[in-house]
Amino acid sequence: MRVGVLTGGGDCPGLNAVIRAIVRKGVPEYGYSFLGFRDGWRGPLEALTKPLDIPAVRGLLPRGGTILGSSRTNPFAVPDGVERIQHNLQNLGVDALIAIGGEDTLGVATKLHEMGVNVVGVPKTIDNDLSGTDYTFGFDTAVNIATEAIDRLHTTAESHHRALIVEVMGRHAGWIALHSGMAGGANAILIPEIRFDIDQVCGWVESRFRLEYAPIIVVSEGAMPNDRDEVLQSGDKDAFGHVRLGGIGDWLAHQIEERTGKEARTTVLGHVQRGGTPTARDRWLATRFGLHAIDAVHAGSWGHMTALRGTDIELVPLSEATKELKVVDPRLYAEAEVFFG
Ligand code: F6P
Repeated sequence: MRVGVLTGGGDCPGLNAVIRAIVRKGVPEYGYSFLGFRDGWRGPLEALTKPLDIPAVRGLLPRGGTILGSSRTNPFAVPDGVERIQHNLQNLGVDALIAIGGEDTLGVATKLHEMGVNVVGVPKTIDNDLSGTDYTFGFDTAVNIATEAIDRLHTTAESHHRALIVEVMGRHAGWIALHSGMAGGANAILIPEIRFDIDQVCGWVESRFRLEYAPIIVVSEGAMPNDRDEVLQSGDKDAFGHVRLGGIGDWLAHQIEERTGKEARTTVLGHVQRGGTPTARDRWLATRFGLHAIDAVHAGSWGHMTALRGTDIELVPLSEATKELKVVDPRLYAEAEVFFG
């Protein structure tokens, strides 16, 4: 059997570890050959390939990014996109595809499976917002990077008696903000799931200063105050209809300065959260997902993705995983609120 592998959407530490595990098990144990597709769904759409064998995956375990490249190409937004993919897979002798991606990439995989393509999915996203799995790899690395940044910002905030705001990724889900904010001892955590009251945030800032500490506020890029929508970097949409978020941190700093008279500055962590080497936990999860994905191909479990449930890796239908986003439970947020102000 010849198996195609692609990585789509925003990159994520651990992608290379998945690719390595798929090939390292698939060649000796099942006798499969592999073909890498470049740049997400653009690969099968335009027949852009890269050889994938054991020598090609050497040294990949600690490497961030993806050797296959990634894109947000949506074949369903391209005329004849699906037909072109089916034609290219047949021409290249590819019998099955492993798609490693988030909600958009796996959404495409779900539809292709329904149209008869042999697909197995592997969930990835630093945002940890995919249903069906307890965690996605990349999330732990992002949380550790954000936590280290918060730790460092505490000391400079205190030296200068400033309020410091840390804007983290998370379009619709505040998992990175919640986990890093709790780990880093933030004085307020603002997430997309729960609208915030700017007067209350300013109250927390003032109470923190009264205690002779400098406040740190962690905010997800998709967080919204009561009376306005997300702050956008641009109104342009990608092939899946997503706008580019960014700017809520600066908006908050401005509001805090105006309302409290205290100096406020913002650090936007941006793509730093997605770059570089994965943590040990992400390498472990990514490797296990890769091993189970190739087993799923061998078993013919088309239309399924690997998922972490507790400490077990299970297979769940792609349709279940992509039907709705996994957002922060208000009960978890309430735990963090104890430390606000
Ligand atoms: O999808 C993951 C994510 O990290 C989001 O949190 C963020 O909005 C988006 O990627 C940014 O992606 P890009 O690099 O394409 O702007």
